[in-house]
Amino acid sequence: MSLPKHIAIIMDGNGRWAKQQGFRTRIRGHEVGVEALRRTTEACGELGIPYLTVYAFSEENWARPKAEVNALMKILVSSLKKELPTLMKQGVQLQAIGKLNLLPESAQRELQEVKDATAGNTTLVLTLALSYGSRQEMLHATRQLAQEVADGTRTVDSIDEAAFSGALYTAGMPDPDLVIRTSGEQRISNYLLWQISYAELVFLPVLWPDFSKEHLEEAIASYTQRERRMGKTSEQLNETTS
Ligand code: FPP
Repeated sequence: MSLPKHIAIIMDGNGRWAKQQGFRTRIRGHEVGVEALRRTTEACGELGIPYLTVYAFSEENWARPKAEVNALMKILVSSLKKELPTLMKQGVQLQAIGKLNLLPESAQRELQEVKDATAGNTTLVLTLALSYGSRQEMLHATRQLAQEVADGTRTVDSIDEAAFSGALYTAGMPDPDLVIRTSGEQRISNYLLWQISYAELVFLPVLWPDFSKEHLEEAIASYTQRERRMGKTSEQLNETTS
């Protein structure tokens, strides 16, 4: 089976990593997590994976202690500033999905600058899910479609899968083929629920700050060995590929 076109990652385990390493706070785990994200983005580019979407901050994460939320926002702003030259060199286009208007203004400004600067890059689209929740995203899409019907610009019958996909934050992107969650937890945690309907799920015990190109390759190998039947039988798949 060919390589996945779109990999979605739940980067989990930063806090546990910091604790294991003996750091007083969880913040160091997030800082080292940025390095893991840089490695992973580079590896996806090298492997020829055109879309990578990472869960950087969920809607639920706003409920964490204020100091941790503030630290994560600071890491976001400083990383965006620092990583821009690398993104340019690697041909990475940055995108962001989620309720971005809830982010601090400095983060919104920096995101916009990096999105604009990288808009012409074509090797890889890196999407940060920030202040993101899948149920909230689907409600937002539903309201938008309902509003179009109320305005008379859309009929009820025109609301099909393509229309719904097009009203999500991920409009225009292919659905993820492979979801990777680190840290050993086996949950989806409100991440891209509509988009991952047919994705393969790979759960790895490694904590996110330790995630390496080898782990990525292990997950991809596990994906390529599986048979994605999409509801069909093995025989039907063999007919279409032979
Ligand atoms: C989960 O680990 C990780 C997060 C909530 C944040 C992910 C952020 C990064 C990898 C850094 C990049 C950040 C931005 C904002 C670009 P956890 O803290 O839930 O770890 P635990 O489950 O061990 O407590």
